[in-house]
Amino acid sequence: MTATAAATPMVDVRQAHKMFGDLHVLRGVDLTVQPGEVCVVLGPSGSGKSTLLRCLNELEVLTGGSVHLDGELLGYREDSAGRLHRLHPTAIAKQRSRIGMVFQRFHLFPHMTALENVMEAQVQVLKRSKGAARVKAVELLERVGLADRMDHYPAQLSGGQQQRVAIARALAMDPEIMLFDEPTSALDPELVGEVLAVMKDLAAGGMTMVVVTHEIGFAREVADHVVFMDEGVVVEEGAPAAVLDAPREERTKDFLSHVL
Ligand SMILES: Nc1ncnc2c1ncn2[C@@H]1O[C@H](COP(=O)(O)OP(=O)(O)OP(=O)(O)O)[C@@H](O)[C@H]1O
Ligand SMILES: [Mg+2]
Repeated sequence: MTATAAATPMVDVRQAHKMFGDLHVLRGVDLTVQPGEVCVVLGPSGSGKSTLLRCLNELEVLTGGSVHLDGELLGYREDSAGRLHRLHPTAIAKQRSRIGMVFQRFHLFPHMTALENVMEAQVQVLKRSKGAARVKAVELLERVGLADRMDHYPAQLSGGQQQRVAIARALAMDPEIMLFDEPTSALDPELVGEVLAVMKDLAAGGMTMVVVTHEIGFAREVADHVVFMDEGVVVEEGAPAAVLDAPREERTKDFLSHVL
């Protein structure tokens, strides 16, 4: 691709800083994710991975720096003098609806069936009719392999099934990008594969994804781009083979020697 024809990145994080009181958690993170790319983020506990995802999804407000989603600045509008103004909560909610997020814990509504869980935000947030929301929910639950579990409540589903419902629920909003924060860490080992298979299928379908995971096999097989974070900065990034098999930085080598 020529420089002029280069696509606008789906995610463009520039010099992101996040403070929690005196705790400086993100210390100048730069990250670019291209449309259709799968970016896997690795790093030790406390390095700021979840905080980064939460800032991408506007669950947290950056202390400094910026995030652009497909060219649009998140959280602010710039006036003609170049000053930034915080967007109205409704505008922020609209931006957030373009970003799907899946958490370690599934956060399904316990009093709703799988189908109702996948319909809910479509009706409440996107104002789709119940009929249209149901059609979409059925299609997505079939896609994640839960055609025979649609009328089950979360308590009647395994952890892997609940996580697949959570993925279907996020997809029901037609997100431009999907963020995953350790989506398999809370699962029994025998249930990890079914969730990773759904994620692989999504990646193969061209979804842009940022995935925080310790599943190195998934990173090797599915990622286009692996990012290693430590102490609030990106220490090293590149193709999976480069970062995982021939890391340059001592901190990356040390981390990998513990997880591999
Ligand atoms: N809301 C908050 N208020 C105060 N401190 C926070 C908050 N959220 C995160 N932190 C702190 O920020 C640091 C980074 O946390 P974060 O959850 O981003 O790490 P992580 O890389 O996702 O770790 P893990 O692998 O354990 O999930 C930690 O020291 C954490 O205690
Ligand atoms: Mg985390």
